[in-house]
Amino acid sequence: MRDKPYAFVIGGTGMLERVCHWLVEHNYFVSVLNRNRDKFDKMKHKNASPDNFHPLTVDYHDTEQLQQKVNEAINEFGVPDLVISWIHSSAPEALPTILDQLKVWEKPWKLLHVQGSSSFFVKENTTVPDNCQYRRVYLGFVIEDGGSRWLTHDEIANGVIKVIQRDYKETVVGTLKPWSKRPQ
Ligand SMILES: NC(=O)c1ccc[n+]([C@@H]2O[C@H](COP(=O)([O-])OP(=O)(O)OC[C@H]3O[C@@H](n4cnc5c(N)ncnc54)[C@H](OP(=O)(O)O)[C@@H]3O)[C@@H](O)[C@H]2O)c1
Repeated sequence: MRDKPYAFVIGGTGMLERVCHWLVEHNYFVSVLNRNRDKFDKMKHKNASPDNFHPLTVDYHDTEQLQQKVNEAINEFGVPDLVISWIHSSAPEALPTILDQLKVWEKPWKLLHVQGSSSFFVKENTTVPDNCQYRRVYLGFVIEDGGSRWLTHDEIANGVIKVIQRDYKETVVGTLKPWSKRPQ
């Protein structure tokens, strides 16, 4: 068991990279789920405390491997205090698989579920264990200069960090309204 808070970040070498650095700067030990180990290594060496990153390298479409890797991480580092999930819709089983590995533990923990804009309109009912506090972040878009654009990595990371700090239950980074103005 570690003496610092522990986070799992799924998709942490992409647009959530800055969130991982922020967590380490705020005393977390962070397991980053990824496929590309080189990308992970480059990322951790950008940080002044690279030893506070752990690579959980697995393709999240591979349910058996995912179960195994998540269990290994729990056995080695303990139950995470915070799970941040950005998973593509091509892997609908990935989050339930991770939640399944965590439900046997009694310790309370928080899930920050990052979802794309289209999910806002088909509100998915994510079933979480009783000891999980569920937080949802929708990624919207930005209206500017008479047009619109998708969010930058920095805007996404800042939005997620704000949710961690302020503990919003459900929020939208950017806007989703009017939907007709979304970038085409
Ligand atoms: N509303 C919005 O504005 C909005 C919404 C969504 C996305 N975007 C933008 O769209 C861009 C593309 O999105 P993206 O999701 O590809 O970006 P991303 O967050 O930059 O990259 C995906 C992340 O998930 C990991 N990953 C992907 N597939 C995986 C798999 N099968 N198994 C394990 N890990 C996996 C990747 O690691 P590996 O590289 O190691 O596989 C990486 O860390 C982003 O740069 C973002 O800015 C914008």
